[in-house]
Amino acid sequence: MQTSTSHFDTRAVHGGMDGVRASGSHVPVIDLSTTNPLPSVELGGLSYEELATGHDLGAGRSAVYQRLWQPGVARFEDALAGLEGTEGAVGFASGMAALAATLIAAASDGRPHVVAVRPLYGGSDHVLESGLLGTRVTWTDADGIASAIEPDTGLVIVETPANPTLELVDLRRVAHAAGDVPLLVDNTFATPVLQRPAEHGATLVLHSATKYLGGHGDVMGGVVAGDTSWVERIRRIRALTGGLLHPMAAYLLHRGLRTLPVRVRAQQATASALAERLGAHPAVGRVRYPGLAGQDPKGLLGRQLDGPGSIIALELAGGFPAAARFTEACELITHAVSLGGVDSLVQHPASLTHRPVADGAKPDAGVVRISIGLEHVDDLSNDLMAALDAAAGAGGIAGAAPRFARAGAASG
Ligand SMILES: Cc1ncc(COP(=O)(O)O)c(C=O)c1O
Repeated sequence: MQTSTSHFDTRAVHGGMDGVRASGSHVPVIDLSTTNPLPSVELGGLSYEELATGHDLGAGRSAVYQRLWQPGVARFEDALAGLEGTEGAVGFASGMAALAATLIAAASDGRPHVVAVRPLYGGSDHVLESGLLGTRVTWTDADGIASAIEPDTGLVIVETPANPTLELVDLRRVAHAAGDVPLLVDNTFATPVLQRPAEHGATLVLHSATKYLGGHGDVMGGVVAGDTSWVERIRRIRALTGGLLHPMAAYLLHRGLRTLPVRVRAQQATASALAERLGAHPAVGRVRYPGLAGQDPKGLLGRQLDGPGSIIALELAGGFPAAARFTEACELITHAVSLGGVDSLVQHPASLTHRPVADGAKPDAGVVRISIGLEHVDDLSNDLMAALDAAAGAGGIAGAAPRFARAGAASG
């Protein structure tokens, strides 16, 4: 079975499977129990006490109640932690639920100040900027982290590659600048296949599991990975606030991890080929993709990030009207939020995923984001080129974008 010396791809297939073969099954059984029998009043109370304070299920204990502990969720968590190289992980109903619980945990010992590097996913930006969870944020760039830290800073947050601009952050430098303050890295875009932030000094690693980990656009989830003390603190918040992953979702996410390496690498190969082709079209002002020449000034590819991934951001030469026309003209590629699935998606960040971000920090209105899936590269290329032809005829005036209202964030 899985050993710590196994290669990454082997761990992706066999992680979280302990005991399955011995039980006579080939895949884990989905246990939908919301409650669990208690061996005695005393052991019931003891089990509750341990789980509600964030501890793992002990030998001879009862899982008590699904909100406290669930075997399929624990399998997914073990498998993900094995890939990220952390002691544990905590699964949630969504990436935002994972972030919310982590913010509450970080702030709970009197350190509500957060230092965050923009850009972040629009929902993460919004929850920090709004202070809805009782946190207070200072926005900075990677170079400004050390001077932004205050005595009550409980967390530094970065996302790399960032949504949607694909900027890269040097995690070792950021971890050094953060010092004793825990560093949370949103690793949704890279996945542990391409980047394992804990190897570069991150305290906590967050995923919208809805994206690559699930990979088929049919399951919502979130997960945060870290050492045992953080896992226990965050699991305690989950037990209290109830944002846990459903067992069916946990099953699908765990299954998704088994094909994650092959999906990520195949999608990346297609994205790399397309990124090269797209830049030649006259409707394109700039292709943002970390694998293109000049787009990795800090030399992070190969040192921190094992590959450029499969998200491409296009800056349309014709600004917002061209971006809107391009997005609507894609046919094979679906116009929809989210990313990381087997089918390609396109969306306009400034009006959708990053709508709630403050003016000035919002992505340019001429930018579209494309998540490359597993379709054949030539079919995707034909669709993109036809949409670019349509965009070239859109006749827009660069920069003439409508003001986008700030409301809640759409997924993605
Ligand atoms: C980078 C990133 N982090 C976090 C989230 C939030 O995750 P979820 O939509 O699963 O709540 C998203 C997308 O939605 C994302 O793209």
